[in-house]
Amino acid sequence: MMKQRIPWNYGWFYQKTFDKEMLQQSITNDMEKVDLPHTNQILPYHYFDESLYQFVSCYKKVLHLNQSITNRRIFLTFDGVAHIASVYANGKFVGKHEGGYTGFSVELTDACKGEDTVVITVVVDSREEKSLPPFGNVVDYLTYGGIYREVWLEIRDQEYIEDVRVKTSTNEDHSALLSVDVTWSAEIDSNHNWTVQLFLKKEKEKDYRAIGKYDMSAKISNYSATISNIEAWDIENPVLYHLKVVVMEQKDFEYGGSDETIVRFGFRTAEFRKDGFYLNEKKVKIVGLNRHQSYPYVGYAMPKRMQQLDAEILKNELGVNAVRTSHYPQSQHFLNRCDELGLLVFTEMPGWQHIGEEVWQEHALDNIREMILQNRNHPCIILWGVRINESPDLDSFYKRTNALAKELDDTRQTGGVRCIKKSHLFEDVYTYNDFSHNGTTKGLDDKKHVTSKTNAPYLVSECNGHMYPTKIFDHEEKRLEHAKRHMAVLESLYKEEDITGMFSWCMFDYNTHKDFGSGDRICYHGVMSMFRNPKLAASVYASQSDCYPVCDITSTMDIGEHPGAYLGEVMAITNADSVRCYKNDRFIKEFYPDTKQYPHMPHPPIIIDDFIGDALVKEEGFRKKSAEQMKELLRMAPKYGVDHLPMKYLLMALRIAIKERLHLQDGFALFNKYMNNWGGEVTTYRFDAIKNGEVVKSVYRTPVTEVQLHVTVDGNDLLEEETYDVASVRVKAIDQHGNQLPYYQEAITIDVEGPIELIGPSHISLKGGAFGFYVRTKGQEGNATVRLHADGVPTVMIPFHVQIKRLEER
Ligand code: GAL
Repeated sequence: MMKQRIPWNYGWFYQKTFDKEMLQQSITNDMEKVDLPHTNQILPYHYFDESLYQFVSCYKKVLHLNQSITNRRIFLTFDGVAHIASVYANGKFVGKHEGGYTGFSVELTDACKGEDTVVITVVVDSREEKSLPPFGNVVDYLTYGGIYREVWLEIRDQEYIEDVRVKTSTNEDHSALLSVDVTWSAEIDSNHNWTVQLFLKKEKEKDYRAIGKYDMSAKISNYSATISNIEAWDIENPVLYHLKVVVMEQKDFEYGGSDETIVRFGFRTAEFRKDGFYLNEKKVKIVGLNRHQSYPYVGYAMPKRMQQLDAEILKNELGVNAVRTSHYPQSQHFLNRCDELGLLVFTEMPGWQHIGEEVWQEHALDNIREMILQNRNHPCIILWGVRINESPDLDSFYKRTNALAKELDDTRQTGGVRCIKKSHLFEDVYTYNDFSHNGTTKGLDDKKHVTSKTNAPYLVSECNGHMYPTKIFDHEEKRLEHAKRHMAVLESLYKEEDITGMFSWCMFDYNTHKDFGSGDRICYHGVMSMFRNPKLAASVYASQSDCYPVCDITSTMDIGEHPGAYLGEVMAITNADSVRCYKNDRFIKEFYPDTKQYPHMPHPPIIIDDFIGDALVKEEGFRKKSAEQMKELLRMAPKYGVDHLPMKYLLMALRIAIKERLHLQDGFALFNKYMNNWGGEVTTYRFDAIKNGEVVKSVYRTPVTEVQLHVTVDGNDLLEEETYDVASVRVKAIDQHGNQLPYYQEAITIDVEGPIELIGPSHISLKGGAFGFYVRTKGQEGNATVRLHADGVPTVMIPFHVQIKRLEER
């Protein structure tokens, strides 16, 4: 009989405390009814202490048994529990798992014998256990608590398919080698005659075709064949295949010896070489970001749709082609979506700088084993991280981590994130956190300065981060500098042939411990905020891809924002060919990418340094040369102050005064007219981004006359299937042209009506003109509405529709 895999996430009961007596008890009235994924503690947005979630808690759920499963084996599979889980069935211990970032199964068969109902109790220890990675010293992220990923009830025959491992390689003639290892749960008895049948189809196809049949004569059996006409998985066209494995016992069907499983995979080759990373023999520069798996309020506990959304944001909003799951293996939903989207993934063992004693190291090896066994069929994963992030050299340990990774997966290379130069290399790829850029130095260090292993491939696993923390509500110059630091590292990445790729730190801000961040328990290192609202630096990544027209003007054009009214540098962060600038509908100038400072970026930023154009000649009657000098003078005067102009500008001023017969007062008048734009009409700037001769995006800057709230909802239809569903709502305050208002910090009230619930508080304030929240389903169908109210702005109504299609439960 086929095995059954039943989602087991609704209707758990939870208590924030635990004592041993609870093991013998059933569900008591003081337990709270919860669904999984579940956080052991809803947290504030910031300013809290990690002790809030570091405790031992207890979860219970009743399993109802019926005849149909007599003689079958029963397992519970947990996708992730932070950090130590002890599982009991009717008070009897059935299994323990240590490690918060990988899944595990416990067998309930014996405990269920002769019972109609079994009370499952899971005792969850969310404290920092020093003998378990990543603990033992400080960690720059919070580790949260709870049964924070999904749980499955699995019903299997006495013997079953334990694992299917698919390996592929592609050939130039569109054929590929497919190698399948099938692991049976028991030794094969020679009196029985087992066969394995394999069927293949592309994900999008309806029907499978048989590709092979062979005898299964050992616990692990292998089948390999060349498959013709395959379509390779790559970042532009991530074609996925399904392999159906059917195992049957030929002689004696009565015995019920059969099982079937479907594995999703892709045909691809992926190799880091000394001169670059090659996907299907084509060189690809890896441009990625680091991702933590955390969210405001609920920590790690978010269901499928939110996990998928992060992958979608990386690919479709930030335009990157890769992600590092820093600093631990992440959700299957996230990885599945990376498979579907063609995002390359570097995933690594849990840990942060610290290596513990022997027991700790054994746990770390277990983590690697589980990470690889649970994830090795994902085509998106291109590298295993088998060093503790930023740890020192420890040869005895790292020889073992590498050997283990190779034993479990001989198709993938290993890397290991270090922050030390010239360290010992047991991995295939020298993987280094390069925090050398300080705003004046070049973006990334040379490979040869970092490692003497010139033949080893080299990858930058982090950069920027703490070198320039920036908040979405920081002032304009700071946000610009943050963006420029990301331009600098990208420029270096594209320049240096021997840097195979880079993962910048990081995708979004995250809650952290007291030792890190800005004192409010947030590390503001993201190119997005915690709610995944983009900072200016996000556009730097988006603009390097061609996924949609990007044109972000780095200034609101308000000189009063800047010291001494010096507007400073204005840039268009864009993937356009040029930007045409208009002031009050008068064409000023067409500007082109700054290939001088950024010769290697696919789309360098465009510097916009003239807002006067030919007006001094046409309207003020200046000679051409004087006009150009006057423009420079007007731009530079506020930078130095009129009294402190460098000699160069004084001489320039003198020359213009003589040539154009001007007095100092005339200079001030010109400044007020062309730079301050004081008095008179409204000043309008328009920036047209031009691609292939066409305007692809226009950005306007005029004084704000209207404020509105704008929401980005990841979807208005919510669906309960395997578990509850969550939608993300990103809110920003915008002006009449859709520009985000960076200093709008007002309070908003969120009213929810209908069959959904708000996650987090119902009164929030925007930060940097943006914020976000989440809504979740609660087991009821129908229409729901969220209303956002803020003083002085129109109320926003967001409709949701909830459908319930809960899958069968016991
Ligand atoms: C690295 C570390 C990251 C983060 C980052 C901040 O040292 O690996 O987790 O702390 O610094 O820049």
